[in-house]
Amino acid sequence: MNIEFVNILDVDEEAIELVRNWRNSKKVSQYMFTNHHINKEEHQRWIEKLKTSDTGKAWVIKYDGKPIGLVQLSNIDYINKTTEWGFYIADDSVRGKGIGATSLYKLIEFIFDEMKFEKMRTMVLENNPVALELYKKFGFKKEGELEEKLERNEKQIDVLLMSLHKDEWENVKPNLNL
Ligand SMILES: CC(C)(COP(=O)(O)OP(=O)(O)OC[C@H]1O[C@@H](n2cnc3c(N)ncnc32)[C@H](O)[C@@H]1OP(=O)(O)O)[C@@H](O)C(=O)NCCC(=O)NCCS
Repeated sequence: MNIEFVNILDVDEEAIELVRNWRNSKKVSQYMFTNHHINKEEHQRWIEKLKTSDTGKAWVIKYDGKPIGLVQLSNIDYINKTTEWGFYIADDSVRGKGIGATSLYKLIEFIFDEMKFEKMRTMVLENNPVALELYKKFGFKKEGELEEKLERNEKQIDVLLMSLHKDEWENVKPNLNL
């Protein structure tokens, strides 16, 4: 599967705006920790911050050369060798075809093999069975849940913290059928 990650700082204005539109779409934002509308200024501030940040990175996911999603690292901790991460496949038409799984595989290998980190952690809303299923398959374990719940559609939603250790990944990796 032809998946590549392109640093968001290397893509053109059109792609940057595409990312903002994805992030504001309901099919993505409903599963994000924050779901307010992101205007151009806020989006630009995020890009500007990434230019000088040691603790955050973002890449556009391209599938056969076409931008289809985003992957991001935040709170990168070089001392403890841990990072938070998040991602989405924005385009409905390419969901469910293994692109999310392949992208996650690539990200994990980057974090453990190239960055030489030990652990990666993400937050998942409890009402996101697709992501939960995928993360479990990849060896992520529930570390706990945030004390505060998110209010979504008049329901209180738990936010789960899921993490993957390098050692667990080494156990799980050979059994993945990608
Ligand atoms: C989560 C997400 C990245 C998965 O990407 P995807 O390309 O659709 O997923 P894949 O086709 O690679 O499938 C990977 C696994 O996800 C699960 N999955 C995928 N589609 C599913 C569906 N419709 N129902 C249930 N599980 C599903 C399965 O476990 C699947 O593995 P399998 O094919 O071996 O059964 C994508 O759905 C997405 O971007 N969702 C919205 C944003 C989001 O939730 N991001 C994660 C925030 S924590």
